[in-house]
Amino acid sequence: MLSIDQGTTSSRAVVYDASTFTVLGAAQQEIEQHYPHDGWVEHEPEDIWYSVARTVREALAKAGRDPKSVAAVGITNQRETVVVWDRATGRPVHRAIVWQDRRTTDFCRTRAADQPALTAKTGLVLDPYFSGTKLHWLFARDSELAARAARGELACGTIDTFLIWRLTAGRAHATDATNASRTLLFNIHTLQWDDELLSYFGVPRATLPDVKPSVAEFGTTKGLDFLPDGVPIRGVAGDQQAALFGQGCFSPGEAKCTYGTGAFYLLHTGDVAVVSRSKLLTTVAAMTDSRPKYALEGAVFIAGAAVQWLRDGLRLFASAADVERLAHASNPSEPVSFVPGFVGLGAPHWVPEARGVIFGLTRATTAADLGRAALEGVAFQVADLIEAAEQDARGDRSFPGGERAGTGPLRVDGGMANNDWFLQFQADALGRPVARASQSESTALGAGFLAAVGAGLADQPALGKLVSGATHFEPKLPAAARAAKLAVWRKAVRAVVAFYA
Ligand code: G3P
Repeated sequence: MLSIDQGTTSSRAVVYDASTFTVLGAAQQEIEQHYPHDGWVEHEPEDIWYSVARTVREALAKAGRDPKSVAAVGITNQRETVVVWDRATGRPVHRAIVWQDRRTTDFCRTRAADQPALTAKTGLVLDPYFSGTKLHWLFARDSELAARAARGELACGTIDTFLIWRLTAGRAHATDATNASRTLLFNIHTLQWDDELLSYFGVPRATLPDVKPSVAEFGTTKGLDFLPDGVPIRGVAGDQQAALFGQGCFSPGEAKCTYGTGAFYLLHTGDVAVVSRSKLLTTVAAMTDSRPKYALEGAVFIAGAAVQWLRDGLRLFASAADVERLAHASNPSEPVSFVPGFVGLGAPHWVPEARGVIFGLTRATTAADLGRAALEGVAFQVADLIEAAEQDARGDRSFPGGERAGTGPLRVDGGMANNDWFLQFQADALGRPVARASQSESTALGAGFLAAVGAGLADQPALGKLVSGATHFEPKLPAAARAAKLAVWRKAVRAVVAFYA
């Protein structure tokens, strides 16, 4: 089973044994981030494509397997990021506009009154995070591009769609419902592109891909020099929904948090689209057939990216893993609070104008204290989201798994989940245990699982049994100390919101 995980910071390919899901070979390559203006974030689509081609080739070589032995491909991806390309040549007409990009802040601000109607159909909020606003920006500023789109000469898609197009030599223009559910163009109740939403954002229907369940026939490979022709793509899901699946969270009430570039908490709500009272998102969970599945989601836009900033922006250390040593060395009584809102704040605040703020610097503050404060800032945001999501879930009587939400340890995965100091602090901030998945790359694993189901090589109960052996972190902080720390954190966040809102 070949899993392609195209993330914000890097692309990964993992080759799994299709019955045990042990990793046979894996490769990873960082991709360049472009910041052309304040708040803008772009990727070069060709960089994305070459990084995928290269990592697939490398992973297969490391696995020592003939590419012909790949039974099926699973794709998972950074969500919301959009690419527009020429259908005739396959060439992108613009750089990919990344989910973190804030260029549509004014558009969203001026249309804030439309939010309730948009949320009712999409489960999302009107925020620059989502693809529809980015496509609106592209077509509104370039009438020639808009005319070509209207004539059906251009194709749009999230990263999964772009990769499917390239892997199949342009024979498939498809996406899955989890990715579609992040665009603001897709009605999550009817599971269709919505004409009203398309005209609101000025996106011609002719540019959009077919939407399929996450397990489906997405086309077969063609004309590649790293895979033979005819390998089927059988599983596709946005990275957070793939991680939910890869953590074995198939049932209502099960939840996970993945710490990648951002941190994303998803609570499976089965076939109920739970509506949040705290501006969390209602999103489509991986669908193994045509029956809809949903999740509640809280998004922290900056998680691993804060560590990356300490490394590359401030040059405090050489490798992201060093932040753990730094956190250990910090002085716990140094009163630094770091709200890492570099690209705005997501749920439950939704302040796209917000930026990162550090409170409490003294002349005694050290690099170690900054490292600790960054990790704490991520953990506190996650704790706030989880509290809100669980209240939403328990408050919705139509949701049968509501009473299970918040029981049991929080399942975690992703790069930062390899940091023991951080996970101990996450358990302390939550006041409950945290369980690290035995394979920290649950995202790639989830895409592999979906492809295995699609290829008829596995079913959910069997896959669920493969997800075991987690490492547990028990909360150690006394309740009063936890409450005091949370109070300081919330005061800091309120100050940031008040400053920028
Ligand atoms: O919604 C954005 C998310 O899909 C990005 O995930 O892992 O690249 O931070 P990641």
